[in-house]
Amino acid sequence: MKGILLAGGSGTRLHPMTLAASKQLLPVYDKPMIYYPLSTLMLAGIRDIMIISTPDDLPQFRRLLGDGSEFGVRFTYREQPSPDGIAQAFLIAGDWLAGAPCALVLGDNLIFADHLGQLLQAAARRRQGATVFAYQVRDPERYGVVTFDESGRAVDLVEKPASPTSHWAVTGLYFYDSRVLDLAREIRPSARGELEITDLNRLYLQEGSLQVERLGRGCAWLDAGVPDALMQAGLFVQTIQSRQGMLVGSPSEVAFRMGFIDAAQLRATAARMHKTELGRMLHELAEGQHESPHAG
Ligand code: G1P
Repeated sequence: MKGILLAGGSGTRLHPMTLAASKQLLPVYDKPMIYYPLSTLMLAGIRDIMIISTPDDLPQFRRLLGDGSEFGVRFTYREQPSPDGIAQAFLIAGDWLAGAPCALVLGDNLIFADHLGQLLQAAARRRQGATVFAYQVRDPERYGVVTFDESGRAVDLVEKPASPTSHWAVTGLYFYDSRVLDLAREIRPSARGELEITDLNRLYLQEGSLQVERLGRGCAWLDAGVPDALMQAGLFVQTIQSRQGMLVGSPSEVAFRMGFIDAAQLRATAARMHKTELGRMLHELAEGQHESPHAG
């Protein structure tokens, strides 16, 4: 399975912070925002990753992330010339996908949960249909919203409904089978002129092959798209890391735990960051001083 990390958009809801910097490069506590969704893809076992961003911002991502060897993965970079919707990512990546199944994660989404790796790896193993994740929020009108029937089956999906019929938001992490490109080609721009990811998901829902996994209490899903959410995400990461000594959203840690890199490679990364707490934590991990399982 391949993975797409979409880090486009103009970040208008974070102006002026995003006037001269890409949203997904802003700090979430001690790491650039994009590290969090990148860690999520890697935790699913995905090592072939395309990073899509605006022509202006793409060089910065390349500078930050390189070819992926630091994390034992392979990055491909591609421009999204204009922000025409999330589902456009599949059209942009079409030739690179070459018929492979694909996961997509949005560059501002942070998911933290116990056993997240197992959940994601199971989704990545499904060869038929699509898998999305739903999370209960107070403000569903900001998101794609899924409604369930009494038996718990997903029956409806609506993008940013004015009057939501449930509190279940669809997170920005999606797993699709190898038909995703063909289905993405069927979508037409919405009223706001975008190729909506929700329309793609609705195609899978209509044919009965959309699996909606509900994320419960033991899970945190944060998006960092507005100032309050950005602040909350940073405080969340700081709280877990300083209280438990466990890293959140570190691609180096995930790479090591997944066996993508060995202790010597991790030690080298830690050495480059030796002036930071993050570097110290990675060093301890390389020396085998952390027993706790990775939690995403
Ligand atoms: C997008 C999707 C929406 C989803 C959300 C998750 O919205 O369109 O369905 O719930 O991401 O972060 P956006 O944040 O681009 O407005």
